[in-house]
Amino acid sequence: MSGYPESMQESLRLVEKTRPDRVGKALPEMTADEKEKVLQDWHPDFKSDQKRALKIGPSKGMLVPHEVADNLEAHTIIKPGEIDLSNIDYDVDVLIIGAGGAGLSAAFLAQEKGIPTEKILMVQKLRLGDANSKMSQGGIQAAVAPDDNPAIHYLDVIGGGHYENKPELAELLVKEGPDVIRWHEEFGVMYDKLEDGTMQLAPGGGTSRKRMLSCKDYTGLEITRVLIDEFLSREIPFVELTSAVEFIMDDKGQVAGAVLYDMDHDEYLICRAKVTVLATGGFGRLHIQGFETTNHYGSTNDGVVMAYHAGANLRDLDSTQFHPTGAAFPEQIVGQLCTEKLRARGAQPLNIDGELFVYPLETRDVEASALIRECYGREKGIVTPTGMRGIWLDTPLIDVINGDGTIEREFASMLRNFNKFGIDIRKEPMLVFPTLHYQNGGVEINARCETNVPGLFAAGEVTGGVHGKNRLMGNSQLELYVFGRRAGVFAAEHVKNVELGGLTLSHLDRYEKWLDEAGIETDRKAPILLPEYRGKKTLEHQIKLL
Ligand code: FUM
Repeated sequence: MSGYPESMQESLRLVEKTRPDRVGKALPEMTADEKEKVLQDWHPDFKSDQKRALKIGPSKGMLVPHEVADNLEAHTIIKPGEIDLSNIDYDVDVLIIGAGGAGLSAAFLAQEKGIPTEKILMVQKLRLGDANSKMSQGGIQAAVAPDDNPAIHYLDVIGGGHYENKPELAELLVKEGPDVIRWHEEFGVMYDKLEDGTMQLAPGGGTSRKRMLSCKDYTGLEITRVLIDEFLSREIPFVELTSAVEFIMDDKGQVAGAVLYDMDHDEYLICRAKVTVLATGGFGRLHIQGFETTNHYGSTNDGVVMAYHAGANLRDLDSTQFHPTGAAFPEQIVGQLCTEKLRARGAQPLNIDGELFVYPLETRDVEASALIRECYGREKGIVTPTGMRGIWLDTPLIDVINGDGTIEREFASMLRNFNKFGIDIRKEPMLVFPTLHYQNGGVEINARCETNVPGLFAAGEVTGGVHGKNRLMGNSQLELYVFGRRAGVFAAEHVKNVELGGLTLSHLDRYEKWLDEAGIETDRKAPILLPEYRGKKTLEHQIKLL
């Protein structure tokens, strides 16, 4: 019994027919010129009418997607006169905003570096750990194999990033990778291992070595599960369902905490902090160019907006990552992640005729562009009942190549997710299409995770520079822990030298003045905190691509 409708059956028969001949076959990687061409012609980042230069702020002139510009060129949601800064609800040394991997590790290291536990506060917009970190599937990169080392990893990172990474950040990412894995294991993360006890490693798009460590296909969930246990046992104070809405500054120009919004009780709270660590994650829920997203519900760019209001420099926000394989069918899970590890273990992308058309492990930007071209340039996509186009990802090959039981063992979560809709990915392929996955850029930091605004540190997806213009699989999981830990260490060190002055929100008046001077007339407000779906069309991207 097939999980796909009759209209897709003919193409499925072609997939089955061509399968025996495709076993062990792959098209070669594209040449540099071919990659450049497919990116220019088909990657959403290269559509010049989909971006504009920021009109205001420290990164004025920087090209960003319209959705990001709309978010930054918007009124603040609070006005200085409405907020009583004298009534302090929390008075701490270190405020951490965001409770994904970067926030959790910053909290651990701040505590270990001597900040009294009661002087740390973590705030989380939704529930503890409810973040993109937890949703990562395929793995985390680290140069732990005998034939690998951080220098080789570095070359992959900067090659994948089109040589636009901030070199010192890329260097730290790769050098501290193996130590992050040891650190995870000490807490109890169960990485997949071979019979001899060494790590099971897979390749990823753009990696020159097998470097992907995994916990089946729920790597982020496993790491986060362990770290949240550790976090709770350390009794670090935290508040949930509470979003930071603006930084508070002091009269010396330092970030001095944040105005928090308690969503449960609909009230604003004041947190004064000597140092603030921003770890709010990415912008997937802005649905750049109408794309569906793999991202968590809270991924609404709030951190970048708040930092920009406070005067932080941004970088690389012209570049967005579209994961090549988001679900395109069934309708209920459109946009959800179908891990790159499926291709790493042998699943092949195929067109409507059951033909190979791309090397399966190009870097993500190139792979995604090739899928879009196949659907909209060559008209070889498979059309679903709602009119969406997709590409087959021939998952049954995984068991053919690696032996029966591989999918069940290594892709337990994917298997279950598709089974709910009557699709057994051991027997039938998945239908996929690129989906918005990651913001390559963000708030600029240095090696100490400091932004250009005194007192404001940042780590994780909210930052830019580590990955340049394109991130490789598994390097965001690694980034969370390399830079989350560093943010905790340097924030704790910074606390010792801070004397806060009088609190103010005058930077918000300054921002309103910039809007005014630039002639920006709008009803938009930001940060938006939660995405708004009422009245939105689904599959907007399909319409835009046509
Ligand atoms: O495909 C994936 O499993 C995603 C991993 C990542 O973005 O690092």
